Amino acid sequence: MEIVILSGGSSRAALAADAVEALVRSKPDAVLGLATGASPLPVYEELVRRHERGGLDFSRTRAFTLDEYVGLPAGHPESYREVIRRDFTSRVNISEANVLGPDGEAADVPAACRAFEDAISGAGGVDLQLLGLGTDGHIGFNEPGSSLASRTRIKTLLEQTRRDNARFFSSQAEVPHHVLTQGLGTVLESRHVILLAAGAQKAQAVRDLAEGPVAAICPASVLQLHPHVTLLLDEAAASSLRLADYYRHSYDGKPRWQGL
Ligand code: F6R
Repeated sequence: MEIVILSGGSSRAALAADAVEALVRSKPDAVLGLATGASPLPVYEELVRRHERGGLDFSRTRAFTLDEYVGLPAGHPESYREVIRRDFTSRVNISEANVLGPDGEAADVPAACRAFEDAISGAGGVDLQLLGLGTDGHIGFNEPGSSLASRTRIKTLLEQTRRDNARFFSSQAEVPHHVLTQGLGTVLESRHVILLAAGAQKAQAVRDLAEGPVAAICPASVLQLHPHVTLLLDEAAASSLRLADYYRHSYDGKPRWQGL
């Protein structure tokens, strides 16, 4: 796991965008894994900028979203399908047909989850997965207690997560209780994971993820088992890390040609 601590939000976004750009330029039909929430927004902004000004071409790129609320009607402004369309995919030239998320309106939820998993494997798997981190250590909507081998399925949100996400709705009562999410086993199969976390409210989860035991109480800790994970952190999110100085030293001395 590589841990990069950088105070400037734009430099973290630029690094993640560099990795996406290098991938898409070398493999135009690359498969991206897209997270919603606030953390990846600066990366999407940077990718939109590179698309508009630098001609970064997503026309053959495919994308899978991580998760979806159950029961929000299609087109609801806070459904993750709609959020990712508004924040990113409609602003670059990814074909809408190439963007797929779990179907939060499915009548047969297990069948919809299986179909989503099949679509990911049918596309050859995710090349680069962008992730945020919940204050309780969730990735996707894999809340504490999630099986480390889980696949796409329905989950119940913790009240803490519903409180955290109430900022996107007009009240907490509107935040659904249930979600569909890629499992931890699904995320582990992506070839490169870039997780972004900023702010002191993420510091404990970052420490548990990177330096704690691999345990379901911090679902993100499963990333310790992945061979290619990059954490992009601001100083506040990194403030509880025991080995922060070592991570800074390693990154400062890293040959830049290596990329992330
Ligand atoms: C969103 C998702 C969640 C968020 C996490 C952090 O698709 O999967 O795991 O990444 O809740 O959210 P923010 O980035 O808003 O702090």
